Amino acid sequence: MKIVRSVVELRDLVRGARQGGARIGLVPTMGAFHDGHLELMRRAREQSGFVVVSLFVNPTQFNDQADLSRYPRDEARDAELARGVGVDVLFAPAVAEVYPDGFASSVQVAGLSEPLEGTMRGPGHFRGVATVVTKLLNMVQPDVAYFGQKDAQQALIIRRLVRDLDIPTHIEICPTVREPDGLAMSSRNVRLDPTARQRAPTLARALRAVEASVAEGEHDAGRALAAGEAILAEAGIAPEYFAAVSSDTLEPVARITGETLVAIAAKVGGVRLIDNVLVHPGSHER
Ligand code: PAF
Repeated sequence: MKIVRSVVELRDLVRGARQGGARIGLVPTMGAFHDGHLELMRRAREQSGFVVVSLFVNPTQFNDQADLSRYPRDEARDAELARGVGVDVLFAPAVAEVYPDGFASSVQVAGLSEPLEGTMRGPGHFRGVATVVTKLLNMVQPDVAYFGQKDAQQALIIRRLVRDLDIPTHIEICPTVREPDGLAMSSRNVRLDPTARQRAPTLARALRAVEASVAEGEHDAGRALAAGEAILAEAGIAPEYFAAVSSDTLEPVARITGETLVAIAAKVGGVRLIDNVLVHPGSHER
């Protein structure tokens, strides 16, 4: 596995692989790898002849400087893990390589960027994500790029920007990888203290309660969410949002009549966690 810092070197390697007939897979990351990242890389490895992983803690998507400076970073460990799953290139550029002096452009996906995470983290968050992902897709020009369903809103925004901007990359969204107790894997989990770590799976339990309620035939979104709200309240967790929204438009739904995204964000022991589940209406009308 090669570690490269410059776009020129990255493009040379990708060009060589493409000329040799390889399909190019890209896994964009901010590092601090866990099994969720490694699953994306394994999937890319299975499906592509040449796998690039980008490791870049993108400053423009952080609304909070303290959050950016606390973001876990350990490139040597990440490189070892990426090598272990057969990644070909780890692209780990400096900030100035991605945002050179005078950088002035951005990508904004209107509408989808506004609710949920957009409301909580501010309008700059998804502008930062959309801009850096567009740049990474342009730098690598992969056939396929892999993202996790855990960041459901991000995944939807990336699919939309690729469609809107005619970027010829297939976006593959991979299932959320969970700890045995249900906690969605996240780079932030390492910051949970033992008490918070015990409480953190409550988010997944609340989502599962909504899923079960819908599967049993509850079509009223408010009543389905109430099943999860009770679990959160019992654990003393006040979510930033806990919502049932259209899985296409992210608009809130009152009735669950088709595939619906149930999304949650909450701070547990001072660590902000997000999770979600896609629910499908059950057969018994209520
Ligand atoms: O999901 C992430 O890790 C980041 O938002 C991404 C897609 C790598 C962009 O910085």
